[in-house]
Amino acid sequence: MEVKLYDFPPHGDDRGQLIAIEAGKDLPFDVKRVYYIYDTLPGVRRGFHAHRNLQQILICVSGSCKIHLDNGFDTAEVLLDRPDLGLYISNDMWREMYDFSEGAVLLVLASQHYDEADYIRNYDAFIEMVRGKDETV
Ligand code: TYD
Repeated sequence: MEVKLYDFPPHGDDRGQLIAIEAGKDLPFDVKRVYYIYDTLPGVRRGFHAHRNLQQILICVSGSCKIHLDNGFDTAEVLLDRPDLGLYISNDMWREMYDFSEGAVLLVLASQHYDEADYIRNYDAFIEMVRGKDETV
C-alpha cells in the first residue's frame, strides 16, 4: 500500500526547533478539528475504526507510536517517531494505533468535526463496504 507521509520543515536555530503547519498551504484539507492522545498506558492498542468521510494527519509530536493501516486489500505499518513527520490517512481506511512509547503525544489534524455517524467500528462491515466499492473484486 502506498503510504502518504509529510515532512514538515523545522525552523531550527541555536535555540531549538519549531514547526509551523498552515491550513490551505501545507495540508491536503482544511483543518476543522485538532485532538491529541497522551498518557497512553503500556500495551494499549486503540483506534479500531475507519471513517466514511474524514481525512486526518497524524503527527507523533513527542515520543513514538506505530500505526496499522488497512484499506481492505493491503495493510501497512508506519512508525511515527519524529515531530516533523506527518502521516496522511484518507477516508475508508481502517486504523489502529499501538506501541506508544512512554510520554508519547499523538497529535491529529482532522478535516471534519467529531461525528460518531462517520465512524465504521465493525471490521467486517468495513471490508464489505470497501470491497463493494471496488467493482474489480
Ligand atoms: P475513541 O474513538 O475511543 O478514540 P480512539 O480512536 O483513539 O480509540 O475516542 C475516545 C473518546 O473521546 C470517545 O468518548 C469519543 C471522544 N472523542 C471526542 O469527543 N471528540 C473527538 O474528536 C474524538 C476523536 C473522540
